[in-house]
Formats: sequence, C-alpha cells, structure tokens
Amino acid sequence: MSQDSHPPRIVCFMCNWAFCEEEMRIPYNVDVIRVMCIGRMDPALVLETFIKGFEGVMLVGCKPPDCHFVDGNLHAERAVKMLKKLLALAGLEPERLKLLLVAPLEERAFSHYAKEFSEEIWRLGNSPLKKDEFIANLTAAKEAASAFRLRVLLGREEELTEFMNAYGEKIPEEEFDALLDDVVKAEYIRYKIHYLTRIKPRSVKELAQILGLKPFAVLRHITNMRRKGMIALDRVEGYTPLYKALEVR
Ligand code: FES
Repeated sequence: MSQDSHPPRIVCFMCNWAFCEEEMRIPYNVDVIRVMCIGRMDPALVLETFIKGFEGVMLVGCKPPDCHFVDGNLHAERAVKMLKKLLALAGLEPERLKLLLVAPLEERAFSHYAKEFSEEIWRLGNSPLKKDEFIANLTAAKEAASAFRLRVLLGREEELTEFMNAYGEKIPEEEFDALLDDVVKAEYIRYKIHYLTRIKPRSVKELAQILGLKPFAVLRHITNMRRKGMIALDRVEGYTPLYKALEVR
C-alpha cells in the first residue's frame, strides 16, 4: 500500500439501485463495480480487494426499507460488522471499509461521499504492516470470512437477536456481539495457523511466537483443526511435533 503522493485507490461496490449513472461523476481514484444488491456481496471478495492493493473499500446500498430484496442492506450491515472485526485482527484499520446506505432520491452526489471517504483514507496513511505480514494476515482474514461457522452465525443473527427461540429466549445484542467476537477471533487464528503451516511444517512453540499467543492456546486450536481435517502431524523432530496444513475443502 503506497499513498504518499497519489490519492488512495478505492473500490466501491454499489447496489444497482443506488445513485443513477448520469449523476455519478466518479473521482478518478475510485473504481465502481455494480452489484444487484449490496447484500449479495461476498465478504471474502471485500478482503480480496485489499489483498489486491486497494487502500479503501466502500459498499453502497439502499437505505431501509428500500432494498429490492427486502433485507439485503441489513445483511450487508451484519457482514460489515464482521469484516471490521477481521480487519482489526489483521492489523488494518477498520475505517478502511465503509458501508453507505442511501435513499432513492439522495440529496448529495456520489462524488461527495467518494471524496469524503478518499480523504479519510488519505489521513490514515500507509499500512504499518510489512508486505509478507500484510498478505498473511489478510489471507487468513479472507479465509476466516468464508468459514462455515462464521457464515452460519451471520446468517442467524437476526433470528437469534430479534425472535424468540423454541425456549422463548432471545439473545441480547451485546451477548451476540461477544459471541461473534469470539468466533471471529478463533477462526482468524485458525486460518493464520493454516496459512503459516502451508508455507512449512511448524511446531506449537514456533506458531505461538509468531502469533503472540501462549503455546497451550495454540495447541487448543491445533487440536480443533486436526478434528476438522485442517492440519496434520508432519513429523517429530527430537521430541517436538511439527504440523502441516491440509487442503481445506
Ligand atoms: Fe439495493 Fe438491496 S437492492 S441494497
């Protein structure tokens, strides 16, 4: 990521129904990609955009209740909440991702929002991460975003926080957020372990050093990953087991 003398490179994924084409006046540092509904955006694609070197990502959708697919905008809000947590874990400022929901007759032009966002990103400056670390962290975040557990949890947020379950219970919003925090963190660490052991087999001690975790915490993740077929024992050197990643289907 380099933005010393040039405006930051930004990608905007925009719902087909937000802003008419004729009134767009797109700034030259912004690429706009139209999608049918912002709720259809794959969260992993947002992280892939950062990996490709873009410095900011904007998602633009319709303000409730105007989503043509009923709740695509609300789904996007939930996905952005998860993505911001993943960006923070990966060491990238969550402010680099913005969700904007606009009314059909929006008073302000798209160029106003795009310039405002570009300035915010410019103020953030370059990412402090080195290239290798950046790729490793963002790849782990992207793979975590596609993880089955996270997809299921996101898909069920509304059901769990707004409606009673079979036992007449509702999970308070804060409790759901805490649960989401735990799952996002666990999945991110597991996919970072997976990424690191794809490069070469590693011991628990080495992984703990790289991840800044206690060895027993890494071992707990490895036990879980072995059960899911994400990792396997490669060999034992002296008394030290080394683990290698398996292909995740
Ligand atoms: Fe615009 Fe769903 S149709 S956000």
